[in-house]
Formats: sequence, structure tokens, C-alpha cells
Amino acid sequence: MNPLAKELNIIIRENHPALMDMLSGVGKQLFFPKGILSQSAEAKEKANRLNATIGIATEEGDIMHFPSVMSSIKDLEPRESLTYAPSFGIPSLRSKWKELQLEKNPSLLGKQTSLPVVTCGITHGLAVIGDIWVDPSDLIMLPEMMWGNYNMIFSVRKGATPGKYPVFSEAGGFDVAGFEKSVREQAEGRDKIIVLLNFPHNPTGYSVTSEEGARIADILTDVAKNGTKVVAITDDAYFGLFYEKDTLKESMFTLLCGRHDNLLAVKLDGATKENYVWGLRVGFITYGITDNGDSPSVLEALERKTAGCIRGMISNASHLGQSIVLNSINDERFKAESREKFNVLEERAIRVKEVLADFKYRDAWDVYPFNSGYFMCIRLKTVNAEELRRHLLDKYGVGLISLGDTDLRVAFSCLEKGDVEELFDTVLKGVEDLTTT
Ligand SMILES: Cc1ncc(COP(=O)(O)O)c(C=O)c1O
Repeated sequence: MNPLAKELNIIIRENHPALMDMLSGVGKQLFFPKGILSQSAEAKEKANRLNATIGIATEEGDIMHFPSVMSSIKDLEPRESLTYAPSFGIPSLRSKWKELQLEKNPSLLGKQTSLPVVTCGITHGLAVIGDIWVDPSDLIMLPEMMWGNYNMIFSVRKGATPGKYPVFSEAGGFDVAGFEKSVREQAEGRDKIIVLLNFPHNPTGYSVTSEEGARIADILTDVAKNGTKVVAITDDAYFGLFYEKDTLKESMFTLLCGRHDNLLAVKLDGATKENYVWGLRVGFITYGITDNGDSPSVLEALERKTAGCIRGMISNASHLGQSIVLNSINDERFKAESREKFNVLEERAIRVKEVLADFKYRDAWDVYPFNSGYFMCIRLKTVNAEELRRHLLDKYGVGLISLGDTDLRVAFSCLEKGDVEELFDTVLKGVEDLTTT
């Protein structure tokens, strides 16, 4: 094992020994290399005459660049856009994102959370978490309805065993009892489980209420107290897009942080959906642990392992993407812009609810609960979802996503408010076409 990995492991073992049992084999080996990176950093500080350390090119005191490239990036300097970002992410973006996390999740105040480490979007963050915390033999609890890429990331790539927990109860709302049963059954006799929570949820657009959230956190804390190590990952891709009063407005991460030594909370969030910059690829990984011993050093050790993993995978995330996101967040228009786009999405969600309240759809489908995010789902009663999807596309030019035999996902995030009724009327026509032929 590399001596730097050993050093990090000593810090973790001495202060938070349970974390050592949660790290994967790769996670234990990870470290942040010194080598070229630290020599360059040292040179950046001290080499004021000639600095010939880093693998970029310079010219006349500036970063070498093509004007044909920079003409597309008018408001950023080459040093803010073309040069490499640190593997941890640019420091000012990391601290700004942490500040925003606190603003949006006031209960995080006083809790031990790391500085967010920048990833190339949330997908990459999930893959990094997979490397650091998931071994092939591990069990990962996923929602029964879920974003399909979890399967690719955790089951196909990492070889983890997927366990499922139900999402909705018969009465509507999150199936807390079903969640508890599945998690407790799977945790029985295991040293460690990984649990993935995703609210607002893809594909249903459901977020838990404050009460449901508190119960989920209590269940996972109790499982941890009973001796099973729990790595709880919150995928907060659609965070903040909450449209109803009873919905928990803070991340589940907030409720899971600092609850027990055997419970590690990992927050994955990003500018992707929250800031409407899908292709800029800016995501974050943040850890939350109990306040126990030297927690800041442990968090720093986890950040170093995470950045080391990123260094070995993609080296670093796009500097251009990070700078654009940072400048936008620091821009005086940012708050008003966020509010304006939130209002547009909220109005669409309300319109979808209004339209779907009409009895005319009653025999064709049920509506899954939704209160947040980009999506909602319907459960078809009489026709096959994939058959209907193809029919709607071929006959009416309407595109939806089919999930399994019965479910259709509607992304109201890309549907104008004025088109909502037409969309559902067309789906109804499609159902009628298929049932009368
Ligand atoms: C639940 C969920 N997590 C993560 C992602 C991926 O986000 P990113 O584009 O930042 O990789 C998506 C995108 O569809 C998603 O729906």
C-alpha cells in the first residue's frame, strides 16, 4: 500500500474506525498523490523566475491558446477556462457550493460535513462513490422504480448485489414500512449495506414529507446502532424543486449527518439540473460524519481519497464548466434567475395536477404521487406502456418514456404549461386507439 494511503487510513482509523470497515478495497488503497501535482503547486508559489513544471503551454506570460477557441469564451480568461482545474475542484467553487448547501439546508449548521469535491456531473460522482465505498460483494439498496443508470454504475460496473425497496404505499406516499422491512431484512447478518435515496425522485417526481424523511433517517440510524455499517447516499440531482407545502425541503443528507458512527452520509448534488447546465458537467460529492475525535482531519482524508480517485479516473473536471457555474452563482442575477425558473417548473407541475384531476382519464390510468423535480408517472390500466409509447410517437409525434409494462414517464420539465392538456388528451386518444382496435 502506498505510504500516503497508509497515512490517510491511520487518520481515519484513529478517529472514525467504522469508516475503515465501510471503505472498499480500492477505497482503502486510495490517496492523493504528491509527485508532479504537489511539486507544481510548490513551484506556483515560489518559482517566480522560471516555472517549467506543469503540462500546459505558456507564451509571453499568458496561457497558450487559439483565438478561435477563446472567441467562444469571451468573458473568461484562458487561466480560468483552458488550464487544468485541481482534482478536488476549484477552491472558490467548493467553498461557495458548501455555503449554498448550508443556506438551502439550515439544519446542517454545526454538523461535520466535508468541503464538496467537484465531479464531472453527478453520474461521475456516483461512479467515484462506487469505487471508494462499494466492493463486488456488497449489497446496495435501490428504489424499486429508479433511474436506470444506477444499475449500470453499481451492478454492472461494480458488481454489487442490488436489493430493492418499494417506493409507494397502497395509501399513497412513501412506503416507510416497506422500506424498513426491506432494509432490516437485508441488513440482518451483514456487516455493511449501501442505501441509495433519491428525492426528488426520478422517475416519479416524488419527494418525501418531513415526517417520512425523519422516519427513514431513524430507521437507518437504528440499523447502524444495531451494528450494520450503513453508507447512505443521497442523490439530490433535482434538489430544491419542491412544489408542495408538506414536502421535506432539506436534503435527506441533513437528517442522516452525524447520527451514528456506523452511518456515513454521502451527498451527491450538482449544478446539472439545479442550475440548468446539464452539459457543463459540474457535480459534487460531500461527506457527513459524526462529530467525534478529529472529524475535520477525517473529512479531509476522505476528500483526499475522493480527489485521488478522480485523479486516477478523469484527472479533473472541466475548468471551463466550473468557472461558468461559479461566475453565475456569484452574479447578482443568480437568485432572481433561480426563482424565475423554479416558478416556471412549479406552474407546470400545478397545471399537470389540474389537468389530471379530470375524470375523463380515470379508466385509462392512475397517477403516481408527485410533488417535485422534473417528472411524473402514470400507471396504465388497459394497454402496454411500450406499445402505447411507440403508437404515440408514430401516430401523434408525441414522445414519452415507457418503464416496464404499465408505466409512462412524463418530463413536464420540457413541456410548456399550455401544452399539458393536449399531451394528456393525446395519451388518452392513444389508449383508446389501442383498446378499440
Ligand atoms: C436521479 C438522477 N441522478 C443523476 C443524474 C445524472 O446527473 P448528471 O447529468 O449530473 O450526471 C440524473 C440525470 O438524469 C438523474 O435523474
